[in-house]
Amino acid sequence: MAGGFAVSKSGADRREFKGKITWYVWICGIIAATSGLMFGYDIGISGGVTAMDDFLLLFFPSVYVRKHRAKENNYCKFDDQRLQLFTSSLYLAALVASFAASRACTQFGRKRTMQAASVFFLGGTALCAFATNLPMLIVGRVCLGVGVGFGNQAAPLFLSEIAPAHIRGALNILFQLNVTIGILLASIVNYFASRVHPLGWRYALGGAAVPAAALFLGSLVITETPTSLVERGRDDAGRRTLEKIRGTADVDAEFEEIRAACDLARALREEEKPYRRLMRPESRPPLVIAVAMQVFQQFTGINAIMFYAPVLFQTMGLGTDSSLLSAVVTGGVNVVSTVVSIILVDKVGRRKLLLEACVQMLVAQTAVGGIMLVHVRADNEPSRSWAVAIVVLICVYVSSFAWSWGPLGWLIPSETFPLETRTAGFSFAVSSNMLFTFLIAQAFLSMMCSMHAFIFFFFAVWIVAMATFVLALLPETKGVPIDEMVDRVWRRHWFWKRCFANADEARVNDNC
Ligand code: BGC
Repeated sequence: MAGGFAVSKSGADRREFKGKITWYVWICGIIAATSGLMFGYDIGISGGVTAMDDFLLLFFPSVYVRKHRAKENNYCKFDDQRLQLFTSSLYLAALVASFAASRACTQFGRKRTMQAASVFFLGGTALCAFATNLPMLIVGRVCLGVGVGFGNQAAPLFLSEIAPAHIRGALNILFQLNVTIGILLASIVNYFASRVHPLGWRYALGGAAVPAAALFLGSLVITETPTSLVERGRDDAGRRTLEKIRGTADVDAEFEEIRAACDLARALREEEKPYRRLMRPESRPPLVIAVAMQVFQQFTGINAIMFYAPVLFQTMGLGTDSSLLSAVVTGGVNVVSTVVSIILVDKVGRRKLLLEACVQMLVAQTAVGGIMLVHVRADNEPSRSWAVAIVVLICVYVSSFAWSWGPLGWLIPSETFPLETRTAGFSFAVSSNMLFTFLIAQAFLSMMCSMHAFIFFFFAVWIVAMATFVLALLPETKGVPIDEMVDRVWRRHWFWKRCFANADEARVNDNC
Protein backbone atom coordinates (compact mmCIF):
# COMPACT_ATOMS: atom_id res chain seq x y z
CA MET A 1 0.00 0.00 0.00
CA ALA A 2 1.55 3.23 -1.11
CA GLY A 3 1.78 6.32 0.91
CA GLY A 4 0.55 4.81 4.13
CA PHE A 5 0.99 8.12 5.74
CA ALA A 6 -1.39 9.43 8.26
CA VAL A 7 -4.81 8.98 6.82
CA SER A 8 -8.25 9.26 8.25
CA LYS A 9 -11.46 8.46 6.47
CA SER A 10 -12.91 11.92 6.85
CA GLY A 11 -11.50 15.37 7.17
CA ALA A 12 -13.51 15.89 10.33
CA ASP A 13 -11.57 13.41 12.46
CA ARG A 14 -8.24 14.42 11.04
CA ARG A 15 -5.57 14.74 13.75
CA GLU A 16 -2.22 16.45 13.89
CA PHE A 17 0.55 13.96 14.42
CA LYS A 18 3.43 14.56 16.80
CA GLY A 19 7.04 14.20 15.82
CA LYS A 20 9.76 16.10 14.04
CA ILE A 21 11.60 15.78 10.78
CA THR A 22 14.48 13.61 11.94
CA TRP A 23 17.89 13.16 10.36
CA TYR A 24 17.05 9.49 10.05
CA VAL A 25 14.14 10.28 7.71
CA TRP A 26 16.39 12.43 5.51
CA ILE A 27 19.15 9.81 5.45
CA CYS A 28 16.71 7.04 4.54
CA GLY A 29 15.13 9.31 1.93
CA ILE A 30 18.46 10.21 0.35
CA ILE A 31 19.53 6.56 0.23
CA ALA A 32 16.24 5.40 -1.31
CA ALA A 33 16.38 8.17 -3.88
CA THR A 34 19.69 6.66 -5.10
CA SER A 35 17.40 4.38 -7.05
CA GLY A 36 16.46 7.45 -9.10
CA LEU A 37 20.18 8.10 -9.63
CA MET A 38 20.49 4.66 -11.24
CA PHE A 39 17.46 5.28 -13.45
CA GLY A 40 18.84 8.65 -14.51
CA TYR A 41 22.34 7.29 -15.17
CA ASP A 42 20.87 4.62 -17.44
CA ILE A 43 18.80 7.22 -19.31
CA GLY A 44 21.76 9.54 -19.82
CA ILE A 45 24.51 7.10 -20.65
CA SER A 46 23.16 5.34 -23.74
CA GLY A 47 23.07 8.37 -26.07
CA GLY A 48 26.74 9.21 -25.44
CA VAL A 49 27.87 5.61 -25.73
CA THR A 50 26.03 5.10 -29.02
CA ALA A 51 27.85 8.15 -30.40
CA MET A 52 31.29 6.64 -29.55
CA ASP A 53 33.16 5.15 -32.49
CA ASP A 54 34.86 2.34 -30.51
CA PHE A 55 31.45 1.14 -29.33
CA LEU A 56 29.90 1.36 -32.80
CA LEU A 57 32.83 -0.46 -34.41
CA LEU A 58 32.47 -3.38 -32.03
CA PHE A 59 28.70 -3.80 -31.96
CA PHE A 60 27.22 -1.80 -34.84
CA PRO A 61 29.84 -1.61 -37.62
CA SER A 62 27.26 -0.70 -40.28
CA VAL A 63 26.18 2.37 -38.26
CA TYR A 64 29.85 3.32 -37.90
CA VAL A 65 30.31 3.21 -41.67
CA ARG A 66 27.13 5.20 -42.30
CA LYS A 67 28.07 7.82 -39.71
CA HIS A 68 31.37 8.50 -41.43
CA ARG A 69 30.19 8.39 -45.03
CA ALA A 70 30.61 11.88 -46.44
CA LYS A 71 27.28 12.24 -48.20
CA GLU A 72 25.11 10.35 -45.75
CA ASN A 73 21.65 11.77 -45.10
CA ASN A 74 22.00 13.98 -42.00
CA TYR A 75 18.78 12.68 -40.48
CA CYS A 76 19.47 8.97 -41.01
CA LYS A 77 23.03 8.53 -39.80
CA PHE A 78 21.96 6.61 -36.71
CA ASP A 79 18.78 4.94 -37.94
CA ASP A 80 19.33 1.33 -36.92
CA GLN A 81 16.76 -0.86 -35.15
CA ARG A 82 19.40 -2.85 -33.26
CA LEU A 83 21.12 0.33 -32.07
CA GLN A 84 17.77 1.57 -30.78
CA LEU A 85 17.17 -1.82 -29.17
CA PHE A 86 20.32 -1.23 -27.11
CA THR A 87 18.60 1.79 -25.58
CA SER A 88 15.00 0.57 -25.54
CA SER A 89 15.43 -3.02 -24.25
CA LEU A 90 15.93 -1.65 -20.75
CA TYR A 91 12.45 -0.07 -20.70
CA LEU A 92 10.71 -3.14 -22.07
CA ALA A 93 12.21 -5.18 -19.23
CA ALA A 94 11.25 -2.49 -16.72
CA LEU A 95 7.67 -2.53 -18.02
CA VAL A 96 7.28 -6.25 -17.34
CA ALA A 97 9.19 -6.05 -14.05
CA SER A 98 7.02 -3.28 -12.62
CA PHE A 99 4.05 -5.66 -12.20
CA ALA A 100 6.21 -8.20 -10.36
CA ALA A 101 7.65 -5.33 -8.35
CA SER A 102 4.19 -4.27 -7.19
CA ARG A 103 3.66 -7.77 -5.71
CA ALA A 104 7.18 -7.85 -4.25
CA CYS A 105 6.54 -4.51 -2.54
CA THR A 106 3.43 -5.85 -0.85
CA GLN A 107 4.79 -9.31 0.01
CA PHE A 108 8.43 -8.63 0.90
CA GLY A 109 8.40 -4.91 1.63
CA ARG A 110 9.84 -1.79 0.01
CA LYS A 111 13.33 -2.24 1.46
CA ARG A 112 13.79 -5.79 0.09
CA THR A 113 12.42 -4.71 -3.29
CA MET A 114 15.02 -1.93 -3.44
CA GLN A 115 17.73 -4.42 -2.46
CA ALA A 116 16.63 -6.71 -5.30
CA ALA A 117 16.76 -3.70 -7.64
CA SER A 118 20.36 -2.97 -6.66
CA VAL A 119 21.40 -6.59 -7.29
CA PHE A 120 19.91 -6.43 -10.80
CA PHE A 121 21.65 -3.08 -11.31
CA LEU A 122 25.02 -4.54 -10.30
CA GLY A 123 24.59 -7.65 -12.49
CA GLY A 124 23.41 -5.62 -15.48
CA THR A 125 26.25 -3.15 -15.13
CA ALA A 126 28.85 -5.95 -15.09
CA LEU A 127 27.35 -7.61 -18.18
CA CYS A 128 27.28 -4.31 -20.11
CA ALA A 129 30.75 -3.16 -19.10
CA PHE A 130 32.37 -6.50 -20.01
CA ALA A 131 30.18 -7.25 -23.06
CA THR A 132 31.96 -8.91 -25.95
CA ASN A 133 28.94 -9.38 -28.19
CA LEU A 134 25.51 -7.84 -28.81
CA PRO A 135 23.43 -10.51 -26.97
CA MET A 136 25.56 -10.02 -23.83
CA LEU A 137 25.05 -6.28 -24.09
CA ILE A 138 21.28 -6.61 -24.50
CA VAL A 139 20.99 -9.12 -21.60
CA GLY A 140 22.88 -6.60 -19.48
CA ARG A 141 20.42 -3.86 -20.46
CA VAL A 142 17.51 -6.18 -19.64
CA CYS A 143 18.93 -6.78 -16.12
CA LEU A 144 19.28 -3.02 -15.67
CA GLY A 145 15.66 -2.70 -16.82
CA VAL A 146 14.44 -5.17 -14.18
CA GLY A 147 16.35 -3.06 -11.64
CA VAL A 148 14.59 0.08 -12.89
CA GLY A 149 11.17 -1.64 -12.72
CA PHE A 150 11.78 -2.68 -9.11
CA GLY A 151 13.47 0.55 -8.04
CA ASN A 152 10.92 2.91 -9.62
CA GLN A 153 8.06 1.07 -7.96
CA ALA A 154 9.61 0.77 -4.50
CA ALA A 155 11.53 4.03 -4.03
CA PRO A 156 8.70 6.57 -4.57
CA LEU A 157 6.42 4.50 -2.33
CA PHE A 158 9.13 4.24 0.30
CA LEU A 159 9.67 8.00 0.23
CA SER A 160 5.97 8.73 0.54
CA GLU A 161 5.55 6.31 3.43
CA ILE A 162 8.39 7.52 5.62
CA ALA A 163 7.71 11.22 5.03
CA PRO A 164 5.75 13.30 7.51
CA ALA A 165 2.71 14.48 5.53
CA HIS A 166 3.74 18.14 5.29
CA ILE A 167 7.03 17.42 3.48
CA ARG A 168 5.75 14.54 1.35
CA GLY A 169 5.89 16.57 -1.88
CA ALA A 170 9.51 17.64 -1.33
CA LEU A 171 10.63 14.13 -0.38
CA ASN A 172 8.82 12.67 -3.37
CA ILE A 173 10.52 15.06 -5.82
CA LEU A 174 13.86 13.99 -4.30
CA PHE A 175 13.43 10.92 -6.49
CA GLN A 176 13.09 12.98 -9.67
CA LEU A 177 15.94 15.24 -8.55
CA ASN A 178 18.13 12.14 -8.38
CA VAL A 179 16.95 11.08 -11.82
CA THR A 180 18.15 14.39 -13.22
CA ILE A 181 21.46 14.22 -11.29
CA GLY A 182 21.97 10.71 -12.69
CA ILE A 183 21.39 11.98 -16.24
CA LEU A 184 23.85 14.85 -15.67
CA LEU A 185 26.52 12.57 -14.18
CA ALA A 186 26.14 10.22 -17.13
CA SER A 187 26.66 13.02 -19.63
CA ILE A 188 29.79 14.21 -17.78
CA VAL A 189 31.12 10.64 -17.72
CA ASN A 190 30.35 10.33 -21.44
CA TYR A 191 32.22 13.54 -22.18
CA PHE A 192 35.44 12.27 -20.56
CA ALA A 193 35.04 8.60 -21.49
CA SER A 194 34.75 9.46 -25.19
CA ARG A 195 38.40 10.59 -25.10
CA VAL A 196 39.62 7.25 -23.79
CA HIS A 197 40.25 4.76 -26.60
CA PRO A 198 39.27 2.01 -27.06
CA LEU A 199 37.82 1.31 -23.59
CA GLY A 200 36.00 4.58 -22.84
CA TRP A 201 32.53 3.16 -23.49
CA ARG A 202 33.23 0.32 -21.03
CA TYR A 203 34.10 2.83 -18.31
CA ALA A 204 30.94 4.80 -19.13
CA LEU A 205 28.67 1.76 -18.84
CA GLY A 206 30.63 0.42 -15.84
CA GLY A 207 30.22 3.75 -14.01
CA ALA A 208 26.67 2.67 -13.15
CA ALA A 209 28.26 0.36 -10.56
CA VAL A 210 28.83 3.36 -8.27
CA PRO A 211 25.14 4.31 -7.72
CA ALA A 212 24.19 0.61 -7.81
CA ALA A 213 26.66 -0.24 -5.02
CA ALA A 214 25.56 2.83 -3.06
CA LEU A 215 21.94 1.67 -3.27
CA PHE A 216 22.90 -1.87 -2.25
CA LEU A 217 24.96 -0.80 0.78
CA GLY A 218 22.48 1.90 1.71
CA SER A 219 19.54 -0.48 1.53
CA LEU A 220 21.23 -2.61 4.22
CA VAL A 221 21.09 0.25 6.72
CA ILE A 222 17.76 1.92 5.97
CA THR A 223 14.58 1.00 7.75
CA GLU A 224 11.53 -0.72 6.34
CA THR A 225 8.52 1.61 6.30
CA PRO A 226 6.08 1.33 9.22
CA THR A 227 3.22 0.81 6.76
CA SER A 228 4.90 -2.11 5.08
CA LEU A 229 5.70 -3.74 8.44
CA VAL A 230 2.13 -3.37 9.70
CA GLU A 231 0.78 -4.48 6.35
CA ARG A 232 2.72 -7.73 6.79
CA GLY A 233 1.49 -8.28 10.35
CA ARG A 234 4.59 -6.97 12.16
CA ASP A 235 2.82 -4.33 14.25
CA ASP A 236 5.45 -4.11 17.01
CA ALA A 237 8.30 -3.57 14.60
CA GLY A 238 6.12 -1.05 12.73
CA ARG A 239 5.53 0.94 15.89
CA ARG A 240 9.22 0.90 16.89
CA THR A 241 10.19 2.10 13.41
CA LEU A 242 7.63 4.88 13.49
CA GLU A 243 8.98 6.07 16.85
CA LYS A 244 12.50 6.07 15.43
CA ILE A 245 11.73 7.99 12.24
CA ARG A 246 9.53 10.54 14.04
CA GLY A 247 12.02 10.95 16.89
CA THR A 248 9.37 10.55 19.62
CA ALA A 249 7.51 7.81 21.48
CA ASP A 250 4.32 9.84 21.13
CA VAL A 251 3.12 8.29 17.89
CA ASP A 252 -0.15 6.72 18.99
CA ALA A 253 -2.35 8.73 16.66
CA GLU A 254 -0.27 8.17 13.55
CA PHE A 255 0.25 4.51 14.34
CA GLU A 256 -3.47 3.97 14.76
CA GLU A 257 -4.09 5.66 11.43
CA ILE A 258 -1.58 3.41 9.72
CA ARG A 259 -3.13 0.35 11.32
CA ALA A 260 -6.64 1.42 10.38
CA ALA A 261 -5.56 2.13 6.81
CA CYS A 262 -3.87 -1.27 6.58
CA ASP A 263 -6.92 -3.05 8.02
CA LEU A 264 -9.22 -1.30 5.60
CA ALA A 265 -6.99 -2.00 2.63
CA ARG A 266 -6.66 -5.65 3.71
CA ALA A 267 -10.43 -6.01 4.04
CA LEU A 268 -11.02 -4.37 0.66
CA ARG A 269 -8.39 -6.57 -0.93
CA GLU A 270 -10.10 -9.67 0.42
CA GLU A 271 -13.39 -8.44 -0.93
CA GLU A 272 -12.01 -7.60 -4.33
CA LYS A 273 -8.51 -7.69 -5.84
CA PRO A 274 -7.00 -4.18 -6.24
CA TYR A 275 -6.62 -4.61 -10.01
CA ARG A 276 -10.33 -5.47 -10.32
CA ARG A 277 -11.26 -2.56 -8.09
CA LEU A 278 -9.26 -0.32 -10.41
CA MET A 279 -11.66 -1.21 -13.22
CA ARG A 280 -14.64 0.28 -11.35
CA PRO A 281 -16.00 3.65 -12.54
CA GLU A 282 -14.94 5.34 -9.26
CA SER A 283 -11.33 4.35 -9.93
CA ARG A 284 -11.40 5.77 -13.43
CA PRO A 285 -10.52 9.41 -12.64
CA PRO A 286 -7.17 8.74 -10.90
CA LEU A 287 -6.38 5.86 -13.26
CA VAL A 288 -6.98 7.90 -16.42
CA ILE A 289 -5.01 10.80 -14.95
CA ALA A 290 -2.09 8.56 -13.88
CA VAL A 291 -1.79 6.87 -17.27
CA ALA A 292 -2.36 10.09 -19.23
CA MET A 293 0.28 11.94 -17.19
CA GLN A 294 2.84 9.29 -18.11
CA VAL A 295 1.86 9.02 -21.78
CA PHE A 296 1.92 12.79 -22.16
CA GLN A 297 5.18 13.03 -20.23
CA GLN A 298 6.81 10.84 -22.84
CA PHE A 299 5.12 12.58 -25.78
CA THR A 300 6.64 15.87 -24.75
CA GLY A 301 9.57 14.32 -26.60
CA ILE A 302 11.85 14.65 -23.55
CA ASN A 303 13.57 11.34 -24.07
CA ALA A 304 14.40 12.12 -27.65
CA ILE A 305 16.66 14.69 -25.97
CA MET A 306 17.72 12.66 -22.91
CA PHE A 307 18.64 9.51 -24.86
CA TYR A 308 19.80 10.95 -28.09
CA ALA A 309 20.98 14.52 -27.36
CA PRO A 310 24.59 13.81 -28.45
CA VAL A 311 23.32 12.01 -31.56
CA LEU A 312 20.87 14.83 -32.27
CA PHE A 313 23.53 17.52 -31.87
CA GLN A 314 25.82 15.62 -34.23
CA THR A 315 22.98 15.45 -36.74
CA MET A 316 22.78 19.24 -36.52
CA GLY A 317 26.41 19.57 -37.40
CA LEU A 318 28.25 19.76 -34.04
CA GLY A 319 31.37 17.64 -33.59
CA THR A 320 31.44 14.68 -31.16
CA ASP A 321 33.05 16.77 -28.42
CA SER A 322 30.70 19.73 -28.66
CA SER A 323 27.76 17.36 -28.86
CA LEU A 324 28.72 15.62 -25.63
CA LEU A 325 29.42 18.96 -23.95
CA SER A 326 26.02 20.27 -25.05
CA ALA A 327 24.44 17.22 -23.45
CA VAL A 328 26.20 18.18 -20.19
CA VAL A 329 24.72 21.68 -20.46
CA THR A 330 21.16 20.43 -21.02
CA GLY A 331 21.67 17.96 -18.14
CA GLY A 332 22.68 20.84 -15.83
CA VAL A 333 19.61 22.86 -16.83
CA ASN A 334 17.49 19.79 -16.06
CA VAL A 335 18.85 19.51 -12.48
CA VAL A 336 18.55 23.22 -11.63
CA SER A 337 15.02 23.46 -13.01
CA THR A 338 13.93 20.46 -10.94
CA VAL A 339 14.96 22.38 -7.83
CA VAL A 340 12.69 25.20 -9.04
CA SER A 341 9.86 22.68 -9.07
CA ILE A 342 10.55 21.62 -5.48
CA ILE A 343 10.25 25.26 -4.43
CA LEU A 344 7.16 26.12 -6.49
CA VAL A 345 5.01 23.01 -6.63
CA ASP A 346 3.16 23.57 -3.35
CA LYS A 347 2.95 27.32 -3.81
CA VAL A 348 1.73 27.93 -7.38
CA GLY A 349 0.11 24.52 -7.82
CA ARG A 350 0.34 21.71 -10.35
CA ARG A 351 -1.91 23.02 -13.12
CA LYS A 352 -0.14 26.38 -13.52
CA LEU A 353 3.26 24.72 -13.78
CA LEU A 354 2.00 22.21 -16.35
CA LEU A 355 0.27 24.85 -18.48
CA GLU A 356 3.14 27.34 -18.39
CA ALA A 357 5.47 24.53 -19.45
CA CYS A 358 3.22 23.60 -22.37
CA VAL A 359 3.53 27.13 -23.76
CA GLN A 360 7.31 27.22 -23.27
CA MET A 361 7.78 23.75 -24.77
CA LEU A 362 5.53 24.55 -27.72
CA VAL A 363 7.52 27.68 -28.59
CA ALA A 364 10.86 25.88 -28.25
CA GLN A 365 9.82 22.78 -30.23
CA THR A 366 8.33 24.83 -33.05
CA ALA A 367 11.41 27.04 -33.24
CA VAL A 368 13.75 24.00 -33.33
CA GLY A 369 11.58 22.39 -36.03
CA GLY A 370 11.55 25.63 -38.05
CA ILE A 371 15.34 26.11 -37.86
CA MET A 372 15.96 22.50 -38.80
CA LEU A 373 13.49 22.67 -41.67
CA VAL A 374 15.26 25.64 -43.19
CA HIS A 375 18.88 25.08 -42.23
CA VAL A 376 19.45 21.35 -41.71
CA ARG A 377 18.67 19.55 -44.93
CA ALA A 378 19.37 15.90 -45.58
CA ASP A 379 22.58 16.54 -47.45
CA ASN A 380 24.11 19.86 -46.32
CA GLU A 381 26.74 20.79 -43.74
CA PRO A 382 24.65 22.81 -41.22
CA SER A 383 26.24 25.99 -39.88
CA ARG A 384 27.58 25.98 -36.33
CA SER A 385 25.65 29.07 -35.28
CA TRP A 386 22.31 27.42 -36.03
CA ALA A 387 23.45 24.35 -34.11
CA VAL A 388 24.23 26.58 -31.11
CA ALA A 389 20.81 28.26 -31.42
CA ILE A 390 19.23 24.82 -31.31
CA VAL A 391 21.18 23.90 -28.16
CA VAL A 392 19.89 27.09 -26.48
CA LEU A 393 16.29 26.34 -27.51
CA ILE A 394 16.63 22.81 -26.22
CA CYS A 395 17.73 24.22 -22.85
CA VAL A 396 14.59 26.41 -22.83
CA TYR A 397 12.54 23.32 -23.56
CA VAL A 398 14.27 21.08 -20.98
CA SER A 399 13.91 23.67 -18.20
CA SER A 400 10.15 23.85 -18.64
CA PHE A 401 9.84 20.06 -18.68
CA ALA A 402 11.96 19.79 -15.54
CA TRP A 403 9.74 21.99 -13.41
CA SER A 404 6.51 20.46 -14.64
CA TRP A 405 5.87 17.23 -16.52
CA GLY A 406 9.06 15.60 -15.20
CA PRO A 407 8.38 15.60 -11.44
CA LEU A 408 4.60 15.95 -11.68
CA GLY A 409 4.39 12.90 -13.92
CA TRP A 410 5.43 10.94 -10.82
CA LEU A 411 3.94 13.10 -8.07
CA ILE A 412 0.35 13.35 -9.31
CA PRO A 413 -0.22 9.57 -9.77
CA SER A 414 1.22 8.99 -6.29
CA GLU A 415 -1.20 11.39 -4.60
CA THR A 416 -4.54 10.89 -6.32
CA PHE A 417 -5.41 7.22 -5.71
CA PRO A 418 -7.33 6.24 -2.58
CA LEU A 419 -5.30 4.00 -0.31
CA GLU A 420 -6.94 0.72 -1.31
CA THR A 421 -5.86 1.01 -4.95
CA ARG A 422 -2.71 3.08 -4.56
CA THR A 423 -0.02 0.44 -5.14
CA ALA A 424 -1.87 -1.21 -8.01
CA GLY A 425 -2.71 2.16 -9.55
CA PHE A 426 0.85 3.38 -9.21
CA SER A 427 2.18 0.26 -10.94
CA PHE A 428 -0.02 1.22 -13.92
CA ALA A 429 1.67 4.60 -13.91
CA VAL A 430 5.17 3.06 -13.79
CA SER A 431 4.42 0.54 -16.54
CA SER A 432 2.77 3.15 -18.79
CA ASN A 433 5.86 5.30 -18.38
CA MET A 434 8.10 2.39 -19.32
CA LEU A 435 5.94 1.39 -22.30
CA PHE A 436 6.00 4.85 -23.83
CA THR A 437 9.65 5.40 -22.95
CA PHE A 438 10.34 2.15 -24.81
CA LEU A 439 8.34 3.28 -27.84
CA ILE A 440 10.12 6.63 -28.05
CA ALA A 441 13.54 5.00 -27.54
CA GLN A 442 12.84 2.40 -30.21
CA ALA A 443 11.23 4.70 -32.74
CA PHE A 444 12.82 8.13 -32.42
CA LEU A 445 15.87 7.69 -34.67
CA SER A 446 13.77 6.01 -37.37
CA MET A 447 11.11 8.72 -37.06
CA MET A 448 13.77 11.39 -37.42
CA CYS A 449 15.08 9.60 -40.52
CA SER A 450 11.67 9.53 -42.19
CA MET A 451 10.09 12.73 -40.81
CA HIS A 452 13.22 14.92 -40.75
CA ALA A 453 12.55 18.26 -39.00
CA PHE A 454 8.83 17.47 -38.86
CA ILE A 455 9.55 15.21 -35.88
CA PHE A 456 9.59 18.37 -33.75
CA PHE A 457 6.21 19.48 -35.09
CA PHE A 458 4.90 16.00 -34.27
CA PHE A 459 5.81 16.53 -30.61
CA ALA A 460 4.44 20.09 -30.75
CA VAL A 461 1.00 18.75 -31.72
CA TRP A 462 1.08 16.49 -28.66
CA ILE A 463 1.86 19.48 -26.49
CA VAL A 464 -1.31 21.22 -27.69
CA ALA A 465 -3.26 18.04 -26.85
CA MET A 466 -1.81 17.81 -23.35
CA ALA A 467 -2.49 21.47 -22.58
CA THR A 468 -6.13 20.92 -23.57
CA PHE A 469 -6.21 17.85 -21.33
CA VAL A 470 -4.88 19.79 -18.35
CA LEU A 471 -7.33 22.64 -18.91
CA ALA A 472 -10.33 20.35 -19.17
CA LEU A 473 -9.65 17.27 -17.10
CA LEU A 474 -6.83 17.71 -14.60
CA PRO A 475 -8.02 19.05 -11.24
CA GLU A 476 -5.73 21.01 -8.94
CA THR A 477 -4.49 18.84 -6.06
CA LYS A 478 -2.22 21.37 -4.34
CA GLY A 479 -2.77 21.38 -0.61
CA VAL A 480 -5.54 18.78 -0.67
CA PRO A 481 -4.95 16.10 1.99
CA ILE A 482 -4.29 12.81 0.27
CA ASP A 483 -7.20 11.04 1.94
CA GLU A 484 -9.68 13.71 0.92
CA MET A 485 -9.06 13.57 -2.82
CA VAL A 486 -12.27 11.71 -3.58
CA ASP A 487 -14.56 14.10 -1.73
CA ARG A 488 -12.76 17.35 -2.37
CA VAL A 489 -11.43 16.78 -5.86
CA TRP A 490 -13.03 14.02 -7.91
CA ARG A 491 -16.62 14.33 -6.69
CA ARG A 492 -16.56 18.09 -7.35
CA HIS A 493 -14.95 18.05 -10.78
CA TRP A 494 -17.29 19.06 -13.62
CA PHE A 495 -16.54 15.88 -15.58
CA TRP A 496 -15.21 13.27 -13.18
CA LYS A 497 -18.11 13.66 -10.73
CA ARG A 498 -20.22 11.52 -13.07
CA CYS A 499 -18.07 8.50 -12.07
CA PHE A 500 -19.54 8.61 -8.57
CA ALA A 501 -22.99 7.85 -7.24
CA ASN A 502 -24.94 10.72 -5.72
CA ALA A 503 -26.24 10.18 -2.22
CA ASP A 504 -29.74 9.51 -3.60
CA GLU A 505 -28.60 7.19 -6.38
CA ALA A 506 -28.43 3.47 -5.79
CA ARG A 507 -25.96 2.76 -8.55
CA VAL A 508 -22.77 4.38 -9.68
CA ASN A 509 -23.15 6.35 -12.87
CA ASP A 510 -21.06 4.51 -15.48
CA ASN A 511 -20.92 7.37 -17.98
CA CYS A 512 -17.43 8.56 -17.31
C1 BGC B 1 11.03 10.76 -16.96
C2 BGC B 1 12.15 10.25 -17.79
C3 BGC B 1 12.98 11.43 -18.26
C4 BGC B 1 13.47 12.25 -17.09
C5 BGC B 1 14.21 13.47 -17.53
C6 BGC B 1 11.58 11.55 -15.82
O1 BGC B 1 10.54 12.05 -15.05
O2 BGC B 1 10.23 9.70 -16.49
O3 BGC B 1 11.62 9.52 -18.87
O4 BGC B 1 14.09 10.98 -18.98
O5 BGC B 1 12.37 12.64 -16.30
O6 BGC B 1 14.63 14.24 -16.46
